[in-house]
Amino acid sequence: MYKPPARIHYSPRSGSWPDADAAAESRLFSPVAVGPLWLASRTWVPAMVPWRATGDGFVNQDVIDWYARFARGRPGAIVVEATGIRDVPSGPLLRIGDDRFVPGLTRLVDAVRAASDGETRLFIQLIDFLAIRRRPQRDVFLRRFLVLDDRHRAAIGGDLDDAAVREALVAMPDEELRGILTARERESLDLGFRERVSDMEQPQIADLPTRLPRLFADAAGRAQLAGFDGVELHYAHAYTMASFLSALNDRGDGYGGVRENRVRLPLEVYAEVRRRVGTDFAVGCRLLADECIEGGSGVDDAMWFATELARAGMDFISLSRGGKFEDAMQPRVGEAAYPYTGPSGYECMPQHISDAQGPFGRNLGPCARIRAALRENGLPTPIVAVGGIHGFAMAERILADGQADIIGAARQSLADPDWFLKIRSGKGAAVRQCTFNNYCEGLDQRHKQVTCKLWDRLDIGELTRGLSSDGRRRLTAPEWLDAE
Ligand SMILES: Cc1cc2nc3c(=O)[nH]c(=O)nc-3n(C[C@H](O)[C@H](O)[C@H](O)COP(=O)(O)O)c2cc1C
Ligand code: SF4
Repeated sequence: MYKPPARIHYSPRSGSWPDADAAAESRLFSPVAVGPLWLASRTWVPAMVPWRATGDGFVNQDVIDWYARFARGRPGAIVVEATGIRDVPSGPLLRIGDDRFVPGLTRLVDAVRAASDGETRLFIQLIDFLAIRRRPQRDVFLRRFLVLDDRHRAAIGGDLDDAAVREALVAMPDEELRGILTARERESLDLGFRERVSDMEQPQIADLPTRLPRLFADAAGRAQLAGFDGVELHYAHAYTMASFLSALNDRGDGYGGVRENRVRLPLEVYAEVRRRVGTDFAVGCRLLADECIEGGSGVDDAMWFATELARAGMDFISLSRGGKFEDAMQPRVGEAAYPYTGPSGYECMPQHISDAQGPFGRNLGPCARIRAALRENGLPTPIVAVGGIHGFAMAERILADGQADIIGAARQSLADPDWFLKIRSGKGAAVRQCTFNNYCEGLDQRHKQVTCKLWDRLDIGELTRGLSSDGRRRLTAPEWLDAE
């Protein structure tokens, strides 16, 4: 994974902790309206894929245990991991693309309600993603995947059939071959083929604006049926909707090019979702404050997009940054590219080896600008900030300075799911601090059950269930024994 060249090491800086009275009077533990809902506090566990679902995308006991564990720490809200809206196989990622997924999701909602005594609001993140293939062997790519055209044939010369042209390409020195392949073909060879929203010659891509509003709306309808409090539309990172918003989207059908066109599908998806679920159900989105890639959308774009989406009626906007394929590292042969391995991936989940800016709060400046743009337009939509937030003092300052309305903490909540509860009860000194070593992220990258380095080997001898598939790690954090 990418690390900034400056390689400056940072340790967590938790700052001071409040006593219970000060916590009760704090901004962090004050309620906030999110569309039709109230969150009891401004604390938020953002979406994190834990690689727990069954191979065909159903909720199982491990998924329930994972979310119930966060719920026992009583955050204001939890967002369930990116959940696929299509009814297509996607490995152990949660799915919501058919009614058969609803009973499992209902059990999940019930478990979170029970574990938090009804305090924690539960959202589910709805995602669509395009096809991506593993990086092929060179000869396999040339023999099977390369779509031959006259350019390749002319470069080889002679009157050869296609099989012979392919063999000639296989035998060719690399440098010569690269001179023949297009940039896109070279990319498919080096990284694996990846669909783009601008592949208009592909009917399933050209059709996205026709199909996605309904797919998202159906998924949101199922989330409502399952009892969730709302949905978070995934308009961030490397996935379909963020690719529509991207400045790199050059579709020529009115859904690419200028900002007005790029935001069109996200607005149409939102409108269809809202029509389906009504106004008593929260609908928000996750957006990129900055794509953090060359030629990508920046903070000015995000200010404009957020304003348009808030004006349309989004109930919250959660801001992330980066996490793109465009600058991802080359995967090994047989593996797929992963959008969190390059510099933009670093921006998304900054770790303790960093640059002068450091890993804590890198997205706060952009969050503040985006929130200010909303307020200037008379839009009260709450903004959720994330990115290295791990202390009470930091959270209070963010809220006091108007950089955000809600404090999201993904890795800190994984390191200690009780941390909000500990702070609230005046026991902040007992918080297990995330060290931002990104061990969890490394597991995510390898599609392994995500756990935290700080607790996954603790007391495993005592466990009869709840262990990882190799039996070496516990799947949820040990209980906090001092909880009142
Ligand atoms: C293991 C793991 C899985 C994640 N999965 C998702 C996801 O499903 N959807 C999403 O929008 N972000 C995902 N993220 C990103 C987090 O929501 C969050 O934006 C990021 O970790 C930065 O916040 P933090 O510094 O509080 O951890 C994931 C992060 C981690 C560590
Ligand atoms: S493994 Fe634990 S300590 Fe390390 S970054 Fe993840 S949550 Fe933090």
